[in-house]
Amino acid sequence: MSSIVLKESEFKVFQKIIYAEAGIDIDDKKILLVQSRLLKKLLDYKLSSYSEYLRLVQINTKEKTDMINLISTNETYFFREDEHFTFLSSLINKEFKNINMFRVWSAASSVGAEAYSSAMVIDSILPRDKWEIIGTDINSEVVKKARIGLYPESWITKIPDKYKRAYCLKGRGSQDGKFLIDRGLANNLHFKEANLLEPINNLGKFDIIFLRNVLIYFDDATKQRVVDNVANSLKTGGFFLISHTENLNMINLGTLEQVATAIYRKKI
Ligand SMILES: C[S@@+](CC[C@H](N)C(=O)[O-])C[C@H]1O[C@@H](n2cnc3c(N)ncnc32)[C@H](O)[C@@H]1O
Repeated sequence: MSSIVLKESEFKVFQKIIYAEAGIDIDDKKILLVQSRLLKKLLDYKLSSYSEYLRLVQINTKEKTDMINLISTNETYFFREDEHFTFLSSLINKEFKNINMFRVWSAASSVGAEAYSSAMVIDSILPRDKWEIIGTDINSEVVKKARIGLYPESWITKIPDKYKRAYCLKGRGSQDGKFLIDRGLANNLHFKEANLLEPINNLGKFDIIFLRNVLIYFDDATKQRVVDNVANSLKTGGFFLISHTENLNMINLGTLEQVATAIYRKKI
């Protein structure tokens, strides 16, 4: 156990920086969580107080990025909220069977489980040259992991058998206990760092955008900003998915309309 304590005044400064950089609204009760997530840095640098680490974060952009990486919660798994993947499959069959290019954005993609789950569904319906998926996240470490597409074997249990057989390669030797996403499939996905607080103009327009399990970290003002940014990247008639545990109650939907639980559509 460490004897280094994160003081209330230091915590307030971290809270401000994290909110300004990532929009993540850290509850006042989370002081111990922040203390434990950042402790590793103090130990690595042999610092004796969080104020010393704070100074590094304030003067060094890379240090600030690392700090946000440590704070952001990246929990994810394959076929999370599987209603959305059933929806995706029937949507493509109904509306997009003959599309030239079906484009999906996994916004806040974490290590890529959501994007690869979508890829498995889409690839089993559309030819490979007719779709692409972009995954973005503010956390540079999870973006690197998503690009690699290597996961602990325990994660495979959530993947339906037909996709497991088609797209998951069992690791051997040094990769024992892991599985790798089939490279042919992975080539249709591109993972990039991007902050949802900023307008994202260089990714093109999408038929469907997943923005799931990230709005919970934002206050209403930030939610509005992020939803506006994301809606801007939807094609007219395109679909926008949030988590079933989230809501847009306090948000001005603008061009979006709700069409089912946790599913919105950009008005035609
Ligand atoms: C809990 S994960 C959700 C992953 C996936 N969408 C899912 O539902 O399983 C939330 C992700 O949002 C990312 N995130 C938090 N704030 C962000 C921001 N301002 N811009 C982009 N990504 C952000 C975190 O780094 C984290 O990987």
